[in-house]
Amino acid sequence: MTLPETYFHLDHLPPIDQQFINEAHNAVYQWPARDHIPNEPVITNSRIPGQKLYRGNAIPTDACTQYGLPVDGERHNSTTKTVYADSNFKNTKFGKDIQSALGRVGSKYLYNMPWSLYDWHQDQGSHECAINFLLTDVPGARTMHRFPTDCLLNYKVSVMEYKLYRPVLMKSKIDHSIINLTDKHRYILTVTLMDTTYDAAKEWLLNYKLDNNSYL
Ligand SMILES: [Fe+2]
Repeated sequence: MTLPETYFHLDHLPPIDQQFINEAHNAVYQWPARDHIPNEPVITNSRIPGQKLYRGNAIPTDACTQYGLPVDGERHNSTTKTVYADSNFKNTKFGKDIQSALGRVGSKYLYNMPWSLYDWHQDQGSHECAINFLLTDVPGARTMHRFPTDCLLNYKVSVMEYKLYRPVLMKSKIDHSIINLTDKHRYILTVTLMDTTYDAAKEWLLNYKLDNNSYL
């Protein structure tokens, strides 16, 4: 049995410009201001009828540190949140060209701390796909997608292979999860494509070329 396609490597596009790697590693990361609705369970299994996900919106707070670690005494319990920093990658030539052709674009750096699980989720918001760049060499980390089976206890799971610094188009409305079973901080640049589909984005990107080996 072959599992559905969940990602596509954009090998004809260049590796990401160094400035974005530096920016990701030096950024101040933001924890969500609100983890969940008080007295309501945080449910991450999208197969439970009527289930809801409470995510809250991340906001800038003094309780941030460079690596997204909360200050002493602060608790963040939800496993369904991203720890992120804004990126201006969407304002590069590449970002502007995508916006002209495919609509709105967002760009953020995402952070996965050492020895962490980012639990199963589908991305918040309207986008069904994103272009991701892995910005740190973390061989022990894995991004996975899962698919229901006839047995509710079991899922089929596929692993998404990243290539360091290189772009990959990824489906984000299928359950996915990230494990970072290493002692390293892991950073990703994610470029969300809000007004298009995975298939349309893939077709456009495959016909798109960048000069000068740069996204700028
Ligand atoms: Fe996600």
